[in-house]
Amino acid sequence: MRKGSCCMFMSGVVGAVLLIMGIGLFVSGLFQTLIHNKLKGEITLTEGSKIFASWKNPPPPVYIQFFFFNLTNPEEFLKGEAKPRLTEMGPYTFRQYRPKRNVTFVDNGKKVSAYTVKSFVFLPEKSVGDLKVDMVTTVNIPAVAVMNRLKGMGFWVSSGVSMYMGSIGTTLFMTHTVEEMLWGFKDPLLTRLKTIKPDTDEYFGIMRNKNGSDDGEFVYHTGKQNYLDFGRIYTWKGEKMLSIWKTNQSNMINGSDGSGFHPFLSKEERLNVFTPDLCRSIHMRFEKEVEVKGIPAYRFTPNEECREVFVLEVACTFYSSMEEAFMTKVVKYQPLLNTLSEMGAPVVVSFPHFHLGAEKYAKAIDGISPVHKLHQTFLDLNPTLGVPVRAMKRAQINIHLERVTGFLLTRNLNGTIFPILFLNESVVIDDASAARIQKLLLIVTLVSHFPLVLGALGIILLLVCIILVIRFYQNKPSAKKDTSYAPVSAKADDQDEKNGTYIGMTPVDKS
Ligand SMILES: *[C@@H]1O[C@H](CO)[C@@H](O)[C@H](O)[C@H]1NC(C)=O
Ligand SMILES: *[C@@H]1O[C@H](CO)[C@@H](O)[C@H](O)[C@H]1NC(C)=O
Ligand SMILES: *[C@@H]1O[C@H](CO)[C@@H](O)[C@H](O)[C@H]1NC(C)=O
Ligand SMILES: *[C@@H]1O[C@H](CO)[C@@H](O)[C@H](O)[C@H]1NC(C)=O
Ligand SMILES: *[C@@H]1O[C@H](CO)[C@@H](O)[C@H](O)[C@H]1NC(C)=O
Ligand SMILES: *[C@@H]1O[C@H](CO)[C@@H](O)[C@H](O)[C@H]1NC(C)=O
Ligand SMILES: *[C@@H]1O[C@H](CO)[C@@H](O)[C@H](O)[C@H]1NC(C)=O
Repeated sequence: MRKGSCCMFMSGVVGAVLLIMGIGLFVSGLFQTLIHNKLKGEITLTEGSKIFASWKNPPPPVYIQFFFFNLTNPEEFLKGEAKPRLTEMGPYTFRQYRPKRNVTFVDNGKKVSAYTVKSFVFLPEKSVGDLKVDMVTTVNIPAVAVMNRLKGMGFWVSSGVSMYMGSIGTTLFMTHTVEEMLWGFKDPLLTRLKTIKPDTDEYFGIMRNKNGSDDGEFVYHTGKQNYLDFGRIYTWKGEKMLSIWKTNQSNMINGSDGSGFHPFLSKEERLNVFTPDLCRSIHMRFEKEVEVKGIPAYRFTPNEECREVFVLEVACTFYSSMEEAFMTKVVKYQPLLNTLSEMGAPVVVSFPHFHLGAEKYAKAIDGISPVHKLHQTFLDLNPTLGVPVRAMKRAQINIHLERVTGFLLTRNLNGTIFPILFLNESVVIDDASAARIQKLLLIVTLVSHFPLVLGALGIILLLVCIILVIRFYQNKPSAKKDTSYAPVSAKADDQDEKNGTYIGMTPVDKS
């Protein structure tokens, strides 16, 4: 008897204490705060952290796939008889390696400086077609660039150059292998230009000199000072702002480079990503919840707000490669800014097939039809850790074709935004990293729910106490029947059945 009342008392007190502690801890959010602070401390770019290692040398494979547009009716289009008819070729798939180099901490570890060196290795097994064999007919980009540069130089200059171009057989369209288009070929017009301007590069290729090159120095916030700053770009090539766009707003370098975000993302957040390829920050918003390899994620996408940015503005990498070709540092971005205001520039970046763009661009060309699923860009991030688990970046490079005074070649052009190629840069988290993240998320869940576990334990103990109390009072009149209750009390420990046993107990007692 004494033992029983002691048990009763103990379970009651301990149960109540646990329940109160559980509720108290739950309400105060202490454990949640603890684990959140732990994560905020952990997710920083500091020597030795797991995040830092995978930031320096990203383990998941990045694939970049090129799809070219082959023009099948160049004569008709040039004569102004038909819309350009394009067929898609590819993909030509490359694996991209992007380790960070010359990583140096600055400002007492609050910032870190690094170069990202990108290299590309062709993967024939993941490609359709052969780089060296497949021929593609597309806009003669060097010729268009030359004409674009001579715009406004007067009729006589233009006519002279036009005749010269005719004499060496330059046409508005050219046919080359895919490999030449990407990695470079010796262009006859550029070779001629070299005799006038010796520093001209005779070669033209969309990805020329990109293998093994870097995008310049980035300085990132490590997140040590404020977790919200994790991975945010502080400077690019030593500058906090760009100077190529017209407004201060467009020139701002906002957000991270897309390789990582601060932990505890919310659905309301506007995520900024700076893309050196575009010399431009773009922003994305929450679209929906998804799951990748068992990891919950938020999908962020550029939305309609980005439409104008993407369709009308000019990519500086491609522009700067032309600029290198002609070495005209003085008027660096001049034509770009001039033509932007009249809604046109030689190189225009859009989403593939003018996805999200105005319908008129797609309608002007045969063989272009945007499909959301195939042509969207998105970033899936685990909201707790801010880690990208899947990303799909898609962009299309176009040339703006319009009539240029003095150039006969262009007499039938009508301001078409002419697609050259689109690319798909994709990455999915590797299995080893996925397993590690799952484990981490489980720990976070367990720790932040610890108060609930305490509370539940308290409730169980209180129930045990109540049962003991009931037993105690029912026991009192006939203490000798103790043994007949043994099986019942064993059952009473089973939580799910406690009501049933209690009811079942009453008639037994009465009989
Ligand atoms: C591209 O189009 C041309 C005709 O303009 C054709 O001869 C060539 O085979 C096409 N290339 C591919 C890879 O389909
Ligand atoms: C050029 O564009 C104008 C209007 O934008 C249109 O009326 C005309 O038919 C076009 N010409 C050709 C050859 O496509
Ligand atoms: C990176 O460091 C190496 C030597 O440590 C140096 O040769 C190289 O120039 C550096 N690269 C840049 C871009 O600073
Ligand atoms: C890029 O460079 C690497 C070596 O640094 C080489 O293995 C690879 O084939 C190159 N890729 C292309 C497309 O030339
Ligand atoms: C951009 O910002 C600078 C100072 O930060 C200011 O002097 C300049 O007037 C601004 N330009 C525009 C176009 O707002
Ligand atoms: C950068 O962020 C500022 C304020 O958050 C915004 O006004 C500006 O438009 C952004 N610029 C770009 C290029 O996204
Ligand atoms: C990239 O996008 C293209 C077309 O949108 C699609 O066919 C291809 O499967 C995508 N690649 C990956 C790895 O998802």
